[in-house]
Amino acid sequence: MIKFPQGFLWGAATSAYQVEGNNANADWWEWEKNSGRFRSGRACRHYEFYKRDFDLAKSLGHNAHRLSIEWSRIEPREGKFSRRELKHYFDVILALRKRNIEPIVTLHHFTNPIWFSKQGGWVKRRSVGYFLRYCDFVTRSLARYVRYWITINEPTIYISHAYIMGVWPPQEKSYLKAIEVEENLASAHIAAFRLMHKIYKELKLDGPYISIAQNMMAFVPGKRDLKNLFAAYLRDRVYNLGFLERIVRHNILRYKAMDFIGVNYYSRQLVELKKFGIPNLAMDVGDGRRHPCERNSLGWDIYPEGLYGVLLELKKYGLPVMITENGICTPDDNLRWNYIRAHLKYIHRAMKKGVNLTGYLYWSLMDNFEWDKGFAPRFGLIGIDYKTYRRTVRKSARKFARVCKTGVLED
Ligand code: FCB
Repeated sequence: MIKFPQGFLWGAATSAYQVEGNNANADWWEWEKNSGRFRSGRACRHYEFYKRDFDLAKSLGHNAHRLSIEWSRIEPREGKFSRRELKHYFDVILALRKRNIEPIVTLHHFTNPIWFSKQGGWVKRRSVGYFLRYCDFVTRSLARYVRYWITINEPTIYISHAYIMGVWPPQEKSYLKAIEVEENLASAHIAAFRLMHKIYKELKLDGPYISIAQNMMAFVPGKRDLKNLFAAYLRDRVYNLGFLERIVRHNILRYKAMDFIGVNYYSRQLVELKKFGIPNLAMDVGDGRRHPCERNSLGWDIYPEGLYGVLLELKKYGLPVMITENGICTPDDNLRWNYIRAHLKYIHRAMKKGVNLTGYLYWSLMDNFEWDKGFAPRFGLIGIDYKTYRRTVRKSARKFARVCKTGVLED
């Protein structure tokens, strides 16, 4: 039997674009129209059904919920802020508060307003100012009801998918642009961090607690020889910790721009170099024949022990850590529960080793639009029938609910 501390945050995460539906002012929407790929359409219609969805979360014992605000709803035209959409998010957050569910609010989760991307998006330096203006508007209005904020979701994934591999809008394949984007995202976070703290001070409010959600993987050398060990070390430094270190200690005075560390963890990457070269160091992966493990329906390796290592590595920053995403897409709901249970065990073990973990948010509360993979991957604790929009609570959700309600994980 494993016991988690009182006050631990338990819940699930979503993002606006993936669940709300009809986000027609976002760059993703435009891209879906033109790329002939999957259409997010009405998604889960969470924009309309959020109260019922939160009732379900409540019945499952969740005391926290991560959601995102869709910038393109709040500011559909440059500088024109929508009071009506702000009111919507205000209602959403109050609906959580009414149910005693702590909101954890993300300000940027992969999508941008169309006008913003038309002006060059995150490649341009002025992106920082635009983002700040949006943060200012939202924070001033919601500060009284929100303590926890994530400024930017998975900057490293956003950069690699949108600007290096070119699989997400704006489909660039340019290292030079990727460097600009990283620079601007880091500046945007740091500036937003300061601004939001200032607003809370002005309003004489406690908090806020601000982070990013950093995607972290276990980089495991397939063979323990020098080149693979070196490549695994390098990838950990660059992909896991590179962006984080820019903002945890972003100048010589080591002023921190983080109140806690949000971690998204899903999988391992098997590092197996074909030869010793720069692209190989950065990218070669093994096919897993020599180190097989179970996989989710997108082919990602299931590797709970990796989370332990990742968490211990964060100890040196001396900040609380929150698991802001961890989850599995699978048609096999038993596997989902095994996945959750195994990860919780390693989280608990890391806590015993002194990592200050404050919460666990499963990805996702419900099945949703999985970006360029469409609706096929099923990550939800709650299943969605996309014809009727009926919600079905899965067994894994009920098992997880027992942990949320009691703080105890039975063997
Ligand atoms: C993460 C994203 C989230 C979701 C999960 C499966 O990288 O933050 O939106 O797509 O992966």
